[in-house]
Amino acid sequence: METPIVKLSDEELKTVYEPSEDSYLLIDALEADLKILHTIKPRICLEIGSGSGIVITALAMALKRHNVHFVAIDINPDACKATKRTSLVNSADVDVLQMNLLDCIQIKYTFDIILFNPPYVVTECKEVLDDRLVFKTWAGGKNGRQVMEQVFTTIPEILSDTGLFYLVVIKENDPEYILSAFQKLNMSGEIVRERKIRGEHLYVLRFHKIKEMRS
Ligand SMILES: C[S@@+](CC[C@H](N)C(=O)[O-])C[C@H]1O[C@@H](n2cnc3c(N)ncnc32)[C@H](O)[C@@H]1O
Repeated sequence: METPIVKLSDEELKTVYEPSEDSYLLIDALEADLKILHTIKPRICLEIGSGSGIVITALAMALKRHNVHFVAIDINPDACKATKRTSLVNSADVDVLQMNLLDCIQIKYTFDIILFNPPYVVTECKEVLDDRLVFKTWAGGKNGRQVMEQVFTTIPEILSDTGLFYLVVIKENDPEYILSAFQKLNMSGEIVRERKIRGEHLYVLRFHKIKEMRS
């Protein structure tokens, strides 16, 4: 998988997440799964919290020969602009929505691939509520799960029946707890990638539906 060109200005770097080990680990996980991703014949892919746009653009570049639509969401308007630019600079095209998590997503069973590298750092709860955009890049609150947990129950509702959900977490988030939380939502998950870097133990979890959820 090609690594997209990402250029962030000094001004943007004040609030937009600069691609880091976690971003690259997620790209590595997607690269290792490329065969599977081709097999599920994705039509619409979504990234929650796209930041610079490096991950969704890498996916868009890798799936170019299919007729796939890419959508990215970020709460930070500067990240939205950066994502759009990164996609265009790399001859991909990603539709970008400035939005809080999945607040306005109502279409059911639609997304074939969903990606989320959330703010996962364990912080005080009040830091999650801090309006400063830079806090949104890392502040994960209690257990570092306060932001990511807000989308857990919606994922099975918006993921297609053959779809895959990729989530980046760290050891402090308790990956086993997250796997069991999804099990209760009828989704099976596993650790597909892990890496220890500078005091952080990163994991990429991949989930799929256990059985048809539609009633
Ligand atoms: C760790 S960064 C990941 C950025 C990028 N996906 C990457 O891997 O390099 C987390 C991203 O989530 C976004 N984010 C945090 N809280 C959010 C929310 N409530 N709704 C939408 N995006 C959010 C941040 O603005 C940031 O861009």
